[in-house]
Amino acid sequence: MAFQPEPWRVKVVEPIHLASREEREDRLAAAGYNLFEVAADAIFIDLLTDSGTSAMSDNQWAGMMLGDESYAGGRNFYNFEQTVQEVFGLPFVVPVHQGRVAENLLFSTLLKPGHVVPNNSHFDTTRANVEMNGGQALDLVIAAANNPAEEHPFKGNIDLDRVRQLFETRRDDVPLAMITLTNNSGGGQPVSLANIRAYSELCREFEIPLYVDACRFAENAWFIRQREAGQGERTVAEIVREIFSLVDGATMSAKKDGLANMGGFFASRNRPLVEKIKQRLVLIEGFPTYGGLAGRDLEVVARGLREVLSHEYLRFRVSQVAELGGRLTDHGVPIIQPTGGHAVYVDAESFLPDVPQSQFPAQALTVALYRYGGVRGVEIGSVMFGRTDPDTGDAVYAPLELVRLAIPRRVYTNSHLRYVADVLVEIGERRDELKGLKIVEEAPVLRHFTCRFEEL
Ligand code: F0G
Repeated sequence: MAFQPEPWRVKVVEPIHLASREEREDRLAAAGYNLFEVAADAIFIDLLTDSGTSAMSDNQWAGMMLGDESYAGGRNFYNFEQTVQEVFGLPFVVPVHQGRVAENLLFSTLLKPGHVVPNNSHFDTTRANVEMNGGQALDLVIAAANNPAEEHPFKGNIDLDRVRQLFETRRDDVPLAMITLTNNSGGGQPVSLANIRAYSELCREFEIPLYVDACRFAENAWFIRQREAGQGERTVAEIVREIFSLVDGATMSAKKDGLANMGGFFASRNRPLVEKIKQRLVLIEGFPTYGGLAGRDLEVVARGLREVLSHEYLRFRVSQVAELGGRLTDHGVPIIQPTGGHAVYVDAESFLPDVPQSQFPAQALTVALYRYGGVRGVEIGSVMFGRTDPDTGDAVYAPLELVRLAIPRRVYTNSHLRYVADVLVEIGERRDELKGLKIVEEAPVLRHFTCRFEEL
């Protein structure tokens, strides 16, 4: 692939600062070696998440000045609604302030205890919203997704045989089916159009509505255009329209492919369902023409949803992530292959073979990234998904020990990411200096946000 320069020029700059090594040591110790507890001011390059961290365009900033802050029927809502209708082809739209509220509204309306929801992989908040309503969140991603080294163009595909088996044995327990584009919890991997089509047919056969977790829909459509036979001549806008013509609705966090710092929506073809959801919306989020957002925020999302379809933007976006992945691979840093749309996932267990799983190798790697380079990534391993059994005191571990380096949209240049790669290569050279960690304080749920460690 030819080198892709950034398809924008810089108009406003935000200084970032690399704290001294001594300060970084102090910050780590004060934070109990948990990077969630380090103030963002002390981070040089922040790859904690791609969510809500995008840089807005001049067009979006200009839209903010056109915010109509009327309580009901503000003009930005109509632009927002029309944009969602045109981009996705879904007729009924409810704005929310972020994706998890759309999940809450959908599952609290449709789910009953004992229900089960299939998905390629549920994101944490999706799983939590299913479970909170008494449902079971079933991950049915294809087997290739569980092998970090295996190259597969659409590693986010759902396993249709297992879906059919579920529908045949438990049809009445499945009030809806989901698919996450791209599959964040499985490495940001895309789902093919053929897989979505076949899944949609299967759902129709059993009369089960199909909803998309659409956070990274444009990145997914770009991969379809690049990798799927017969799709290379179509526009991303056309591919997006086809994807959503195959489904009943979507939950969306506009903090990702909405190129916005806040926002989201629920959209559907099912008018009675949307009417029910609007009643709940008024209770927990706001009136249906603002849904927890300011008018100016609605305008920013509307503009972002159109900008994100740009081929120039997407070509750069996906190539920037791939370039970081490629540089790491060339220097022997093991990552999930192929690189996904929004992040590079380092396989910490094979990168740091001397740190046993009981000492949280992926967490140790996040500490090293900050210690040596002021870089923040996020552990996706046994700190996040493991737990201490409250009865036996035994530790339960995650299947993979990963560090996700999520790339904010339009924020960092290729040279920032080259620096990140250099830091990782340096860590590889010093891997025998790295220390494992022991948890000294943890909350009973979602412990990764607040738990404290000691270095061993
Ligand atoms: N679905 C997926 C696939 C996500 O990645 C996220 C958020 C959500 C739903 C929830 O959206 O945050 O707007 O409520 N992912 C962020 C991340 C937090 O870092 O991956 P939200």
